[in-house]
Amino acid sequence: MRKNIVAGNWKMNNSLNQTKTLIGDLIVELKGVELVNTRVIIAPSFVNLQEAIKGTENNEIEVVAQNMHYAENGAYTGEVSAEMLSSIGIKTVILGHSERRAYFNETDEILTQKVTAALANNLDVIFCFGEQLEDRESENHFNIVEAQLKNVLFELPTNAFKNIILAYEPVWAIGTGKTASADQAQEMHSFIRKTLSEKYNAELAESVSILYGGSVKPNNAEEIFSKPDVDGGLIGGASLKAKDFSAIVKAI
Ligand code: PGA
Repeated sequence: MRKNIVAGNWKMNNSLNQTKTLIGDLIVELKGVELVNTRVIIAPSFVNLQEAIKGTENNEIEVVAQNMHYAENGAYTGEVSAEMLSSIGIKTVILGHSERRAYFNETDEILTQKVTAALANNLDVIFCFGEQLEDRESENHFNIVEAQLKNVLFELPTNAFKNIILAYEPVWAIGTGKTASADQAQEMHSFIRKTLSEKYNAELAESVSILYGGSVKPNNAEEIFSKPDVDGGLIGGASLKAKDFSAIVKAI
């Protein structure tokens, strides 16, 4: 059975002290919450990963990275490799976030290299994708999403999908307060599963967790998560407040 996942993408927020405080607060908020078939994930910045791992040692919160470079090592000033992440105990990395695509020119070609490098280094991948507003307005959103999946993931062998979590994040809903309706999320997630089923097989399509991301808040999480093909969320803004994030975890 595929897992439910609530993942907090902290983006470029939180100093070391703020990281420790937020983790402490989260642990308090989540105490006693029964996580049935559910993973809770946080993605602090690179510099705070080790402290976050330390701070979550004795509970179920998993710490993941927000990005990595595709090269093994070398002259890439300012970058972080998969092996470096593994060496501090990171097991999962977010790749393809729309902010990386938009501000750091991450193309499908670059993302293909990143996904390959992550999997080769035994890192699981939370792969993000989603259409822009103009794609949805021109009713091209299904084509765009299909192409994003195909261009980056569809050369992978079947068994690679054991290590991949998908995160559908319509760009127009990220950080805008404008969320996709639960029905829009369900419609796209079901399309994604159908696409996976056609390319691979139905069993694989049913086994992959597909998260929705884009202005998920305590007041809309339950409805979005209630949809059969929505297996959780990738949460930005609301993951920075312990009460909001834990309310979203409880909604799963
Ligand atoms: P948001 O961000 O929840 O602030 O819209 C989601 C994301 O970027 O993953």
